[in-house]
Amino acid sequence: MGATRLRQRERDLDRVATGGIHVRWMIRRDMPEVMRTERASFEHSWTEDDFLRCLRQRNCIGMVTEHNDVITGFMIYELHKTRLHILNFAVNANHRRTGVGGLLVGKLIYKMITHRRQRLTLAVRERNVAAQMFFRAHGFKATRLLQNYYEDSGEDAYQMELKAPAYDPFDGFGVIGPVNRIAQYDES
Ligand SMILES: CC(C)(COP(=O)(O)OP(=O)(O)OC[C@H]1O[C@@H](n2cnc3c(N)ncnc32)[C@H](O)[C@@H]1OP(=O)(O)O)[C@@H](O)C(=O)NCCC(=O)NCCS
Repeated sequence: MGATRLRQRERDLDRVATGGIHVRWMIRRDMPEVMRTERASFEHSWTEDDFLRCLRQRNCIGMVTEHNDVITGFMIYELHKTRLHILNFAVNANHRRTGVGGLLVGKLIYKMITHRRQRLTLAVRERNVAAQMFFRAHGFKATRLLQNYYEDSGEDAYQMELKAPAYDPFDGFGVIGPVNRIAQYDES
């Protein structure tokens, strides 16, 4: 696929059929709204300085979802050699369960494929069952228990990850595991 078509697909993904919500880079002006969502979402929230320090790193990327000029969610992730690692991820409480989080995960999957990375990873607090359910609903699996992971509370974390879909030269991306085409043919 050529670069122009890839960019077009990215633009299409940015304006999915979710009532005009789109995903874009986080900019300085978004910080007050991002901080409101951050503080309302986490007991041990990041400070504005934490965001800025992180975003100064070359491999650290911030994105927001926006709907009618309102920031509805955000994520911060790092680009590593073989994986994308989610550092922070939250949706404004008034906009939860409407697919905003799913839109951000969709963006990450798209980035993982186009940047040819193999995995999406994150650490989630042991007590944050809602987030575990959310990432599980998007195909993530818990792969490790990280003991005493958080300095603030000493809480454990689960490492969760999603593997990049396999590439099928006839079908593009989307084939998650090996497919027995002969068995499928016999069944039909
Ligand atoms: C976790 C979070 C990002 C989910 O965002 P969201 O926009 O509400 O998620 P979506 O609407 O895309 O949800 C998709 C699916 O995930 C699952 N899901 C989402 N929230 C869930 C919850 N609280 N409990 C159980 N399952 C949930 C459901 O299967 C849901 O589909 P459904 O609504 O059709 O049942 C959001 O609840 C949040 O910001 N939480 C606080 C911050 C946080 O914990 N961030 C993660 C840090 S690791």
